Amino acid sequence: MASVSAVSAFVKRLEGKVAIITGGASGLGAATARLFSKHGAKVVIADIQDDLGLSVAKDLESASYVHCDVTKEEDVENAVNTTVSKHGKLDIMLNNAGISDKIKTSILDKTTTSLILRE
Ligand SMILES: NC(=O)c1ccc[n+]([C@@H]2O[C@H](COP(=O)([O-])OP(=O)(O)OC[C@H]3O[C@@H](n4cnc5c(N)ncnc54)[C@H](O)[C@@H]3O)[C@@H](O)[C@H]2O)c1
Repeated sequence: MASVSAVSAFVKRLEGKVAIITGGASGLGAATARLFSKHGAKVVIADIQDDLGLSVAKDLESASYVHCDVTKEEDVENAVNTTVSKHGKLDIMLNNAGISDKIKTSILDKTTTSLILRE
């Protein structure tokens, strides 16, 4: 069994797939862009950090960057249209972009309501 898992670890699981990753210029999105690229996907990084996004795309095989603020519908439409014109299709849309609220790490910072409602 060990040889089977050793072989499958090297199989490119996204060969030929086309993926848009929003928020792909940094953090989890950039890490996912690297992983998708390693697995053979054509990756389009869609972000608002142009310099960083271009730099991540440049380091990857078959990756590109498009400026896209996900709060603007026309930017999202443009990202999808640009991807489809460049690659002829879109297989994966990873909607990763986002910002988190201030993280409360201690239970003492929480109110009873927030614990019940999982705020
Ligand atoms: N890191 C964690 O532990 C964690 C936990 C739970 C959920 N998340 C969620 O996962 C996602 C990524 O987290 P991360 O830690 O990698 O964050 P990050 O801040 O490192 O990366 C977020 C990326 O999204 C981009 N972005 C922000 N607003 C955007 C917009 N309007 N349009 C396009 N791109 C935009 C940023 O430029 C950045 O490149 C976020 O939605 C976050 O809320 C993260």
